[in-house]
Amino acid sequence: METPRPLARRLASIHPFHVMALLARAREMERAGRDIVHLEIGEPDLPTPAPVLAAGAAALERGELYYTPALGLPALRAAIANDYQRRYGVAVAAERIVVTPGASGALLLALGLLIDPGSQVVLTDPGYPCNRHFVTFLGGTPVALPVGAETRYQPTAAAVAAAWQPATVAAMVCSPANPTGTVIPPAELAAIVAVVEGRSGRVVADEIYHGLVYTEPTPTALAFSPGCLVVNSFSKYFHMTGWRLGWLVVPAGYEEAVDRLAQNLFLAPSTPAQHAALACFTEETEAILQVRAQEYRQRRDFLYAALTGLGFHLPVLPDGAFYLYADASPFTTDTFQLAERLLAEAGVAVTPGIDFGDYQAGRHLRFAYTAPLARLEEGVTRLRRFFG
Ligand SMILES: Cc1ncc(COP(=O)(O)O)c(C=O)c1O
Repeated sequence: METPRPLARRLASIHPFHVMALLARAREMERAGRDIVHLEIGEPDLPTPAPVLAAGAAALERGELYYTPALGLPALRAAIANDYQRRYGVAVAAERIVVTPGASGALLLALGLLIDPGSQVVLTDPGYPCNRHFVTFLGGTPVALPVGAETRYQPTAAAVAAAWQPATVAAMVCSPANPTGTVIPPAELAAIVAVVEGRSGRVVADEIYHGLVYTEPTPTALAFSPGCLVVNSFSKYFHMTGWRLGWLVVPAGYEEAVDRLAQNLFLAPSTPAQHAALACFTEETEAILQVRAQEYRQRRDFLYAALTGLGFHLPVLPDGAFYLYADASPFTTDTFQLAERLLAEAGVAVTPGIDFGDYQAGRHLRFAYTAPLARLEEGVTRLRRFFG
């Protein structure tokens, strides 16, 4: 028998999400008849808005099932460009917009444009877990900036400057952030961009939770410099996770390189999804999404007050997204085990901090309010019983 070839060494540094094992167990428990309150899922529970669904269905009917250009449908790139003008008052040429398979595709393209073997990329801990894996996958080294409640779980310009090394090529920011829901104050974001570009680096700004901000509307990083690479998606605000569609805005001069990379990595983003997404930028869809944003805000307010009442420490009211990052240190320093017990004993699924990095991970749990208010109330009742 031949020995099977070992996997590439890079796989050793690519970790699964712990929450996936938890989710699988939750599904098993549901199949066995147990009712589980899901507060671990990072996608909207509400469906794709009806006008978007209708546009997608019409595209299928018309047989829009051939490849589009690698950078996306010209009409969709133009619609996204218009939206930057309308939403933020920022002019972005449609040629700088690349339609991608989700923000995931956009992150891979952005980092693919920037990282050489040995390049360093500054990112936050806690942060979106895939970012550090993308960096290592491309042969770079992630440099984690620990961020805590004292800076609203966001990096400061001073911290980015202190972490910067000769090999650093980029800093990744996410605002509002996963898992903490906090926004980088505009002046601080401007200062981060200045620090990074002053060192000839690039800011990669993940704006996937824009639109789901319940305080002041937050500016795009492009308002501070056209040199930022901005990642966004139809997944969250537009409620289109399964359609797999997002976009990347690249600096002028990168258009030809990103076209080559997108062609080779993806050929093209999903055609029916792009036709559906054309209906995202209408007044009708916007009105639906605004009502939903208000609903998420109500859920945030309810869950924030309820978790605080239960004894969790939540020093910062999140500005947006649909997450609360709760400090569970009054109860445990092992939230991985706590998440397992909450599922098994209380029937409540949450995500342990370990999924988002190492910094104070054992003290934190992420609660996603991607369930209707009545389910959140049921979850809180169960938690109250569990914690006595
Ligand atoms: C911060 C952040 N970026 C990117 C993604 C990827 O999203 P998608 O590929 O569905 O657009 C997610 C998904 O949860 C996320 O939370």
